Amino acid sequence: MGKTFDIGLESLTAGPLPANRRSALAMPSGPAVRGTFFLETFGCQMNDHDSEKVAGVLMSRGYRQVESADTAGLILYNTCSIREKAAQKVFSRLGEYRTKQAQGQVIGVLGCVAQQEGEDIFERAPWVSLVCGSASYSKLPELLAQVEAGNQRVTGLETDTDATFETEMTRRDNPWRAYLTIIEGCDKACSYCVVPYTRGPERSRASNSILREVRQVAELGYSEVQLLGQTVNSYADPTSRKMRFSELLLAVADEPGIRRVRFTTSHPKDFTQHIVDAMDAQPKLCNHVHLPAQSGSTRVLRAMQRTYTREEYLEKIAMIRGARRPISITTDIIVGFPGETEADLAETLSLLDDVKYDAIFAFKYSPRPHTPSLSMNDAIPEEEKSRRLALLQEKQREIQMERHAGFIGMAFEVLVSTKSRKENHWSGHTTCHRVINFTSQETALLGKYVQVRVTGMTPNSLVGEHA
Ligand code: SAH
Ligand code: SF4
Ligand code: F3S
Repeated sequence: MGKTFDIGLESLTAGPLPANRRSALAMPSGPAVRGTFFLETFGCQMNDHDSEKVAGVLMSRGYRQVESADTAGLILYNTCSIREKAAQKVFSRLGEYRTKQAQGQVIGVLGCVAQQEGEDIFERAPWVSLVCGSASYSKLPELLAQVEAGNQRVTGLETDTDATFETEMTRRDNPWRAYLTIIEGCDKACSYCVVPYTRGPERSRASNSILREVRQVAELGYSEVQLLGQTVNSYADPTSRKMRFSELLLAVADEPGIRRVRFTTSHPKDFTQHIVDAMDAQPKLCNHVHLPAQSGSTRVLRAMQRTYTREEYLEKIAMIRGARRPISITTDIIVGFPGETEADLAETLSLLDDVKYDAIFAFKYSPRPHTPSLSMNDAIPEEEKSRRLALLQEKQREIQMERHAGFIGMAFEVLVSTKSRKENHWSGHTTCHRVINFTSQETALLGKYVQVRVTGMTPNSLVGEHA
């Protein structure tokens, strides 16, 4: 697992994490160990990747990462606010940390709840010393210096910065797939969504900087990269090169050593034929597009301010289905948006039938602070939202069973990422982002690409054997 630590590892004074892990776990709860940090992350892949960069910033300042909050000198909590439950979790976790400050431990709140609640966090949890949103992470070294100097209420809450968060070193968690943020923030204004408030305006990263990082991760042995952005396909290269998103995809795939390129999340409005053309031209671009619909009803889409109709969304699907190879399509759906009628729900259910998604992520609408939909009438009762969610999930289960049954007997290339505790059992992802659990008599398969023949299925995964 040496690859878990990458860019600039050699320059670290800290030892590798497994040793730290052991010492942290072995140590009884007690006074803070200066120069150590514990970092817990909730939320989306962008948050996960931000944490990898935050850990990199800390490690390049000489901090060691530990796996337990017990005695960590610095406890950081990278938070999510997308639905109410996620945000509530933050305050209950902070409650657990109440006694930590007295033991000399410093507590910081990062991410979307930090940005959303700002200095109010100090009122609700006075034992917190640092509150910093993602748009201020470029200032982290400066903010950390203030925290180290004993400052009690350090904040990074500006979102009017045009800086993207780039680091000299990133401490990557996933040893097989390297995440790279190419665009931060969001300029869309979906009426239910906190992200434009919590992550600030859209800022695209320079194409040459992205390509430089791709080269670095390829040299470290990563063969799969995933480009990230809340609206990744709204990428607008700020350099004079003015690379289109589709051109950037091709340039990333051209870097020596790169074998798979993924990107997420695409906004339907900015999804163009150029992207499909690039996928047709370059097989290293994975057979998968995540294209959140949110609803199948044009009336609800309008209330959500999604900027497309059902028909326009279906045109984008037709564009993807027109590719020369089968591309798997996944989506996000919200049920129970204020005023959603039975007829609207029926349209969402029929969208599932029309598109036959490979997977869906469905959520019950959750009212969020600052958002326009907060003041909309006709809230749907919680039990009714649950009923609608169950209907959607049942329909999708049937669709996936049918799709998966069609894969039996087919062979897929899998990047092996997990060794099961059961002997000879492994799992990994196909290019179309399906999980296959499979058996193989070979050993040392982790990180390798192998051909797997599908022999069975469940609604959520495939079962197979090494071909
Ligand atoms: N930028 C991405 C999505 C980011 S949030 C996009 O535009 O597609 C991930 C998903 O959370 C969204 O696609 C949406 O389905 C869901 N979501 C966002 N706000 C929500 C809310 N207030 N209630 C319930 N689900 C929400
Ligand atoms: Fe939220 Fe819409 Fe932006 Fe996605 S595109 S992050 S749903 S505002
Ligand atoms: Fe959550 Fe923020 Fe991501 S609200 S989903 S962590 S952008």
